[in-house]
Amino acid sequence: MSWERVSWLAHTGLPIQDPITSDQLDTVVARGALTPDDLAVDLGCGAGELLARIVDLRGCRGLGIDISELAIDHARRRAPEIEWRVADARDHGVANDAAAVVACVGATHAFGGLTPALAALVPIVRPGGTIIVGEGYWRAPPPDGWLATLGASRDELTDRDALLAEVTAAGVRVDHVVDASPADLDSYNRAWRANLEEHLRAHPDDDEVRAALDHADAWHRECSRYLGFALVVAVKD
Ligand SMILES: C[S@@+](CC[C@H](N)C(=O)[O-])C[C@H]1O[C@@H](n2cnc3c(N)ncnc32)[C@H](O)[C@@H]1O
Repeated sequence: MSWERVSWLAHTGLPIQDPITSDQLDTVVARGALTPDDLAVDLGCGAGELLARIVDLRGCRGLGIDISELAIDHARRRAPEIEWRVADARDHGVANDAAAVVACVGATHAFGGLTPALAALVPIVRPGGTIIVGEGYWRAPPPDGWLATLGASRDELTDRDALLAEVTAAGVRVDHVVDASPADLDSYNRAWRANLEEHLRAHPDDDEVRAALDHADAWHRECSRYLGFALVVAVKD
């Protein structure tokens, strides 16, 4: 299955590819003081909405990197003034202490997980700068049956406390956290499925999308009981 294609269809009209609402995103964007000379970097930026909002609000410079051409194509149309690159996030080329903000939202897997992602992000943020990490966590211990339906293993995520401890262990101070509520998660999943259902009405033979929707129908059912998602804003003191 081309997961990239299905994911783009599923996220039509959603601000970001995670269950964080547009208003929550703005509370994160509003934090920290940036000047026009400052650099904000988003690694695994997707369609670039977070970075575009930071640059819009602050007038600072931006660099967004994603491995998906489709994502960068959307980002370029959203904010042509920003530098967007199709590349592996690990090849960011940003010098140590060069960025005032570094974000990696829903994309820590690009580095092999949260801890290696933080090890890559923290050095390139200047002292006093900000790291924004978006990561899932277990809201409640997931049962084996649901995990099997999802196709995931328990050790892929931690609980929320362990997530925050992992961020702190990277040598930064957690300053602000926004959590997607269970209702936010349900609403995100509903929108995701509605986009695929709409696509299937127009393209009933698209078996790839039908398979993705069938899978989502099964694991979305109890998703908000077990899965959480947070945007963690941390400062490098
Ligand atoms: C769940 S999406 C999140 C996108 C965006 N940060 C957001 O919140 O809307 C994960 C993104 O990571 C990107 N990605 C995955 N592996 C990557 C890699 N090695 N380097 C750069 N981007 C990668 C995907 O293409 C995708 O756009």
